[in-house]
Amino acid sequence: MAEFTLPKNSKIKGGQKHPSPQPGGTMRNFKVYRYDPDSGQNPRYDTFEVNLDECGPMVLDALIKIKSEQDPSLTFRRSCREGICGSCSMNIDGRNGLACTTAIEDVKGEIKITPLPAMDVIKDLVPDFTHFYAQYASITPWLQTVTPPPAGKERLQSPEERAELDGLYECILCACCSTSCPSYWWNSDKFLGPAILLQAYRWLADSRDEMAGERLDALEDPFRLYRCHTIMNCANTCPKGLSPAKAIAEIKKMEVERLV
Ligand code: SF4
Ligand code: SF4
Ligand code: FES
Repeated sequence: MAEFTLPKNSKIKGGQKHPSPQPGGTMRNFKVYRYDPDSGQNPRYDTFEVNLDECGPMVLDALIKIKSEQDPSLTFRRSCREGICGSCSMNIDGRNGLACTTAIEDVKGEIKITPLPAMDVIKDLVPDFTHFYAQYASITPWLQTVTPPPAGKERLQSPEERAELDGLYECILCACCSTSCPSYWWNSDKFLGPAILLQAYRWLADSRDEMAGERLDALEDPFRLYRCHTIMNCANTCPKGLSPAKAIAEIKKMEVERLV
């Protein structure tokens, strides 16, 4: 599996060691990226010793335990704890994933945790999603129609039309794919990246949407769409098992088909 670069501001030096407050059990070390821009200090890695006999099974359980018992200043996002909200995306042992669905036992040795790569860091494991969300807004991610809805009815889909959204609607916008994509690392100012392009295709594939032409016009650009070089990191990384690369290929196909 692909190894990823460190976050943008990664002049790593020093670091503190935090022994477990519950010695004597099954111990694992968690080496966690720390950065507080307000401190004026460079980033560092702190090492936290965690007694796994007193900890839940997932990496997020360990982070919550560390924050509760060893260092309340450790900062990370989480909400659902079920792989649904996408908040706890981070780089765990060189691979982007969700802390709440990554089992500690599946990672060998010392567990190194950094924020998602190639994004600015707000604090510790919290990356700045401002640009990512602006790109999401740019694809107008909502149903758009020109015809009025059938009187007194919803806009219905057949089971086959609804099935076209499978593999798309499940995306939780965690950004694990975009931040594992080399093309996105190098061109994120202009390339929309795999997550946003998968979302763009989700609306192109929706039988109820009537703005396909406008959506394709907006994507027809050397950078926004065509910086994908089918490197496939996105599909290998997605914690929901989705394939943004396939969605991107479908958009490219639609762009070609409307010309013939
Ligand atoms: S397939 Fe395209 S979007 Fe996915 S990682 Fe490769 S270049 Fe990026
Ligand atoms: S496609 Fe997968 S990795 Fe990418 S944002 Fe959606 S859920 Fe996350
Ligand atoms: S806490 Fe919601 S996906 Fe991990």
